[in-house]
Amino acid sequence: MQNIKILTSEEIKDLVSMKEAIDVMKLAFSDLSMGKYRMPVRTVTDFGNGAISLFFKPSFLPQEERIGIKLLSQTRNKPSQGSPAIQGIMVLIDSATNSIIGLLDGSYLTALRTGAASGIATRLLSRSESSVLALFGAGAQGYTQFEAVCCERDIRKAYIYDTSSEAADRFIAFFKAKTDVELLHGADLSSLREADIICTATNSGKPLFQTDMLKKGVHINAIGSYKPQMHELPDDLFSVASLYVDHKDSCFSESGDIITPLEKGIFNHDNYKGEIGELISSRITGRISSDQITVFKSVGVAVQDLAMASFAYRKACDAGIGQDIKL
Ligand SMILES: NC(=O)c1ccc[n+]([C@@H]2O[C@H](COP(=O)([O-])OP(=O)(O)OC[C@H]3O[C@@H](n4cnc5c(N)ncnc54)[C@H](O)[C@@H]3O)[C@@H](O)[C@H]2O)c1
Repeated sequence: MQNIKILTSEEIKDLVSMKEAIDVMKLAFSDLSMGKYRMPVRTVTDFGNGAISLFFKPSFLPQEERIGIKLLSQTRNKPSQGSPAIQGIMVLIDSATNSIIGLLDGSYLTALRTGAASGIATRLLSRSESSVLALFGAGAQGYTQFEAVCCERDIRKAYIYDTSSEAADRFIAFFKAKTDVELLHGADLSSLREADIICTATNSGKPLFQTDMLKKGVHINAIGSYKPQMHELPDDLFSVASLYVDHKDSCFSESGDIITPLEKGIFNHDNYKGEIGELISSRITGRISSDQITVFKSVGVAVQDLAMASFAYRKACDAGIGQDIKL
């Protein structure tokens, strides 16, 4: 029986930089859109009237003989002990030998690959001179959204919006010590007029802003809404904004940000441009004018986890990092 390598969140943090993670996501999305992965739409099961959601996310990359299964549990409200709202584990399997070869912390792996997905979208879709960011949601995903956008653009100022002032304070204190970006509390939505890039990483049930508050040419990474009743974006946004997604079937069947405008008949189908993987492989066009509003909507797909876990596992093997066990 092969050894199983266990990788903790701290080990993954040390092994994989955000820059590397963004490049891993670039390849994963391109492979996904070219049909190289086998991936069923994930299973999400709610318990306790939605207080806890369980995610089961398998995928298979035949050319690398790798299977990944991510198991997550997510609480609607953050547990009071301060542990992350998303807890999980990633199982990595060698399909050639049908052996489990890796068990990775799923919490940070998720935040890393979700940030990296917004990073590649920011690289491809935001205006290159973008310097002001507005971030909604200073939770686990917010941190990696911020890191990824700062990797791709020279961000000078960031407005941090969170309904919890403690979360926003914690976020600002954390990054003040690490970056020279001017970090400000998003006191009111008028600051959105300045934002070149907006990231939304909340569990909100209501849109976070209105379309007429946006600056021309803004790029939005919207990662929070993964259920029909969850909304971060205004319903009329896709009457003016160009939409790119991580995975069409998943986004159109899961996210309220897309389902609600479709149901209301106010989704302009001409504004749906395609999957980010199609953009990466130049099968569709990206931004065509500096005034265009672009949106990257992601619900998160299993191939992101498999690609990220395989990369971290390979680096860990090369560096001799992680605990090797036999079950
Ligand atoms: N697309 C993906 O791949 C992906 C991956 C992981 C998580 N998510 C989703 O992203 C969202 C955030 O996840 P997380 O792990 O950071 O959760 P979290 O609980 O750690 O953080 C969410 C933050 O959003 C804040 N918030 C809630 N409503 C708000 C509002 N109206 N305005 C401003 N702030 C608000 C909360 O106070 C909290 O600080 C969740 O809905 C989660 O399911 C998506």
